[in-house]
Amino acid sequence: MSGPPTIELRDVSVLFDERPVLSDVSLKLESGGTLALLGVTGTGKSVLLKVILGLIKPDAGEVWVEGHNLTPLSEVELGPYRRRMGMVFQEGALFDSLSVYENAAYMLREEGVRDEEAIERRVREVLGFVEMEHALDKMPAELSGGMRRRVAIARAIVSQPCLMLYDSPTAGLDPVTAHTIIVLLAKLRDLNSVTTVFVTHRLQDAFILSNFVYSSEKQGLVPAASDGGSRPAVRCRFAVLRDGKVYFEGSSDDLTRSADPYLRKFIV
Ligand SMILES: Nc1ncnc2c1ncn2[C@@H]1O[C@H](COP(=O)(O)OP(=O)(O)OP(=O)(O)O)[C@@H](O)[C@H]1O
Ligand SMILES: [Mg+2]
Repeated sequence: MSGPPTIELRDVSVLFDERPVLSDVSLKLESGGTLALLGVTGTGKSVLLKVILGLIKPDAGEVWVEGHNLTPLSEVELGPYRRRMGMVFQEGALFDSLSVYENAAYMLREEGVRDEEAIERRVREVLGFVEMEHALDKMPAELSGGMRRRVAIARAIVSQPCLMLYDSPTAGLDPVTAHTIIVLLAKLRDLNSVTTVFVTHRLQDAFILSNFVYSSEKQGLVPAASDGGSRPAVRCRFAVLRDGKVYFEGSSDDLTRSADPYLRKFIV
C-alpha cells in the first residue's frame, strides 16, 4: 500500500493525575485496514481513541494521521483533520434534545453547510445506509439501544470520513443486534474503503471483521479470501492493551495460536 499510514502512534504516553494511563504505545494502521483493539476494562482503549482524535493530548510521543503530526496542533488547526475522522463514542452517545434527523445533520451544520436541500439529501442518505430513514423525526429517548448505535454511526459518517473510530459499538446489545452492527461496520469499510479502528470486548465481533467482507451483491457478509481468491483479503490487525501498554499486536492467527497465558485467558 502506497502513502503514509492513516494512523501512526509513536511512543504515546498519557498521564492522569501523574498516573500513567497509556505508556509508550506505538501502533500503525495502513489505509483501508482494520485495527481491532482489545483489553479488559480500564486499560486505556477509550483514551487511545481520544488521543487519535486529538481530544486528549499525549504527555509524550506523537500522533500522526495521514502523514501529518497532529501532536503540536491547536484545536483550530486540528479541525480539518478531525473532519476526516468519524467517532462512535462508547454507549453511542447522541444529543438527547435533538431529533434523529438533527443528530445526523449536526456535523454538516458545524461545518457551516447552509444549503438545507443538500443537508436533507445527505442526512437521508446516511440514515438510509444504516437503515434508519423511517425514524427521521424520532427523539433518541424513543429508540432502542441498537437503533441508537445506528444513528450514532450515521452521525459519524455524515462528512464522509476516511477513518472511523468505534468505541465498543456492540456493548450491551443482544447478539442478533450486535451482529447487524458489525455487518454495518464491514459494509462501510468495504464499500467506501474506510480505515477502521474498532474497540471491543467481544472477540467474536473482531474475528468477523477480520474474516469476512461485505458483498453488495449478497447484501451481507461473505468469507474473505485468504490466499489469492477473487475476494479481497481483509487487512486486520489485533492489538491487546494491558495496563496502558500494547501487550500484543499481530494477526488473528497470531492471537489464536498464542500460548501466552494472559492472551489465552482473553480469547476463551
Ligand atoms: N478524563 C479522565 N481523567 C482522569 N482519568 C481518566 C480520564 N479518562 C480516563 N481515565 C482513566 O484512564 C484509565 C483508562 O480509561 P479508559 O476509559 O480508556 O478505559 P477503557 O479501556 O476504555 O475501559 P472500558 O473497557 O471500561 O471502556 C481508567 O483508569 C480511567 O479511570
Ligand atoms: Mg472505554
